[in-house]
Parts: sequence; C-alpha cells; structure tokens
Amino acid sequence: MLRVGIIGAGVISKLNALGYIYSKDAEIVAVADKDRDNAIGKLERWGIRTAKIYEDYKEMVEKEDLDIVEILTPHHLHAPMTEYCAKAGVPAISVQKPMAHSITDCQKMIDACKEHDVKLKVFENFIFAPHILKAKELLDEGIIGERTNFRINTVLTGGPHMPYSLIESYLWRVQVDKCGGGPLVYDDGIHKFSLALWLMNQERVEKVYAWIDYFSGIMDGPSNIFWKYPTEEDKLPKYGSMEFSLAPNMYFPSNYYACEEFIEISGTKGMMWINQCTSGGNFLSKASEYPPIIVYTDGEVKNYGEDLAMDWRYSFINSTEDFIGAVKNDEDPVYTGEGGMGLSIFAKMPYISNQEQREVYWDEITPFAEANNSCLVEKFFTKRKSIFQMLKYNWRVRKDMKKGKKQGLKHTEFKYTYQK
Ligand SMILES: NC(=O)c1ccc[n+]([C@@H]2O[C@H](COP(=O)([O-])OP(=O)(O)OC[C@H]3O[C@@H](n4cnc5c(N)ncnc54)[C@H](O)[C@@H]3O)[C@@H](O)[C@H]2O)c1
Repeated sequence: MLRVGIIGAGVISKLNALGYIYSKDAEIVAVADKDRDNAIGKLERWGIRTAKIYEDYKEMVEKEDLDIVEILTPHHLHAPMTEYCAKAGVPAISVQKPMAHSITDCQKMIDACKEHDVKLKVFENFIFAPHILKAKELLDEGIIGERTNFRINTVLTGGPHMPYSLIESYLWRVQVDKCGGGPLVYDDGIHKFSLALWLMNQERVEKVYAWIDYFSGIMDGPSNIFWKYPTEEDKLPKYGSMEFSLAPNMYFPSNYYACEEFIEISGTKGMMWINQCTSGGNFLSKASEYPPIIVYTDGEVKNYGEDLAMDWRYSFINSTEDFIGAVKNDEDPVYTGEGGMGLSIFAKMPYISNQEQREVYWDEITPFAEANNSCLVEKFFTKRKSIFQMLKYNWRVRKDMKKGKKQGLKHTEFKYTYQK
C-alpha cells in the first residue's frame, strides 16, 4: 500500500483526496496544514480516522515514511515544498496545477526532482474528465479530419456554487507574487491551455495575442486570447482562442465553482462541440440540445458521451489513478514537470501580450527573461480600488441569487459514495 501524505487541506483537497480514498493501492496516512482545523474538518468529512495531522509539513515528511506527497497549497509554495520533499527522500510528488507562480520555480522543481530521482506529476484534471477522454479518442480516430481550430469559452456564472472563503481561499489568488497571474487566465486558465494543447495534439503554441480586462476588480476577465500553433510546411495553419466571459446574473447551479466551459473544434472534414465540464450534471446536461459531445461530419450529426458521468469529480479521481499507476509501474505521469512548465509558459503569454499590446512568442517566457524582468506579470489587485469594484459586481450577483433561492435553486453537496 502506497503511503500518501497531503500538504494543504483547503478547498480542492475535497476532490483531490477522492482518488486515494477509492484506491486499492494507496491510502492517506497523514495530512499537513498550517491551519489544523482545515485538516481535522477534511479527515472527518472523508471518514478517515487513522491519519495523523501535522501543522508543519516538514515534520510530517520526516516522521511518516511517505511514498507519495500531494501538494495542494498556494502556488508560490509549490517549489519550496517540492524541493524539500525531494531532498528529504519522498520518491513521488504530485503538485497541483499551476506548477508554480514563476517559470524559474518550475525549473527549480524539475531540477530538484531529477537530482533526487523523484517522480513528479503536475496534477491537471480536466483532460481526465470522462467526456473529454471520449472526445480525445474520437479526435484521434480522425472523426473530424485534421484538427485546425480550437475554441473554448469559460462562462463565469452567478452560481449557486460550493462555498469557499474569499479571504482564505481567494485573496492569495489575486496577488501576482503568490498566484503567478490572475485567478482566471493563470490559475483556472491552466486547465483550458491544457485542453487546447492536448485535444489538438500539440505540445506548444508559436505565439499569443490577448486582451485582458479587470472589470470586477478581483478577476482577470472578461478576456479574449488568440494563438497560433506551430505550422508545418504545406499544411493548413492551426489557430486557437479562449474567452473568459462574465455572466453574473446567469442562474447555473454548480456542485463546484460558478463557471462552465464550452469547446468547439474545427477539422478539415467536420466539427466537434464539447458541452460543459466544471458544472456538468445540472439542468443544461439534461437538455437534449446539450449532449456532452456533438459531432458533425459527412452530412450527419451524432451525439456522444450521454452514458458518461457528467460530474467533475471523476476528472480528479482519474487523474489521481494516472499518478498511482505511474508510481506503481514506473511510468511518466500526465503531466511531467516539463509538461507542467509548458502549461505555465502558455498561461503567462496572454498577460505579457495584454501588457505590451503585441504578439508574444513561447520562447520569450523563460527563467532568464524573468530574471531580466522582461516577462513579469504586472500586479492588478489594489485593496481600495479592486474591493470597491468587487462589491459593486457582487451586489448584482447577490441580488439575483436571492431571487434564485426563492425559486428553490440551491447548491447541493455531493456525497462521498462512488458511482462509476
Ligand atoms: N484542479 C482544479 O480544478 C483546482 C481547483 C482549485 C484549486 N486548484 C489548485 O489547488 C491548489 C490549492 O487550492 P485551494 O483552492 O485548495 O486553496 P485554499 O486556499 O483553499 O487551500 C490552501 C490550503 O493550504 C494551506 N497552507 C497554506 N500554507 C501552508 C503551509 N505552509 N503548510 C501547510 N499548509 C499550508 C492553507 O491553510 C489551506 O488549507 C492550488 O494550486 C490551486 O490552483 C486546483
């Protein structure tokens, strides 16, 4: 049995723990959180009474003889924690996306894990959602021919959604020196950049252009981002785009965050639409107009994935299974350190483009450029101005939420039962 220690028992640990709870090959033996109550609450929730609790993760690593450490903390802590665990002899580390707040830190993590022969996974889950796996399988079979254009729209809805604290769980996300960017394009965006590469069978993009607005004061959106994939000679050029749209008055019950994703992929002989991910399972999923996958090709429209579980939690379970399998069989996980660093590079490019109003190339985002201050994301959150903007924005959401509650719309917590 692989002995797992979790560092950080905040919001996302609820979902990250599931893959270990259901695994026959691994068990959570310890949780470290500087806020002891967070760890106590989560262990209670998971029904794990035997695991030890630590406030200092270093003490946990020293005492517990761990096979796996799962790092679920704010981004600026990922590198020091990874480096410490690697040096202390933990053989396998899974670190939540984004790999780190800077590319310099990503490189340090790769180097430390190589030096100490540690298996490193950068945990990204969207590509493991059951309907996304199905879409990838269809695309790889050539259902729409050669893939030429990718588009993803993330809509920030009015909820209702799972509860989380704006001070404890959100404040660090608006501080660029802790997050690495903003909560949408960098933090959440990593998932979408991952889909943009993985579903299109690409490892990187050539260049990016972007507009990022900070309308609500605490979110880097609405945003519009465009890119070109590397193009082979005599082949059709390939492009992609990403939007973050604000829809504060849109009722959209979610078991998780108040957002939803819609993807459109064009190919040389067809098109694919992928509906929903984060909030899947709500009334939109039940509408016949919104099956998980729709494909148009050869004069026919077909739906796919209607039999698959449209619940975001399975993406976490599957991604953890990928890591446990990689540890057991000594294989590379998805993503490795290099892959994870690529996602961070991609997610930084739009900020530099927005700041300098120009196309930004992949190779410009390096540790060397960070040291020269030539690819640093600018701070956007200022206490007075941003909080005033946020209050104005949230007033609108809350007003409509009251209406929604009267209509019986509410957030429902999922149960810890396994349904495959
Ligand atoms: N995969 C996804 O879809 C997804 C979704 C949300 C968050 N995340 C990622 O998960 C990570 C954590 O996010 P979150 O939303 O759970 O954050 P959070 O703020 O809710 O939780 C962070 C936890 O880390 C603890 N912590 C902070 N410093 C610590 C230290 N020095 N030692 C021990 N514990 C410490 C905090 O007390 C807190 O409990 C981030 O990398 C984030 O980007 C991923």
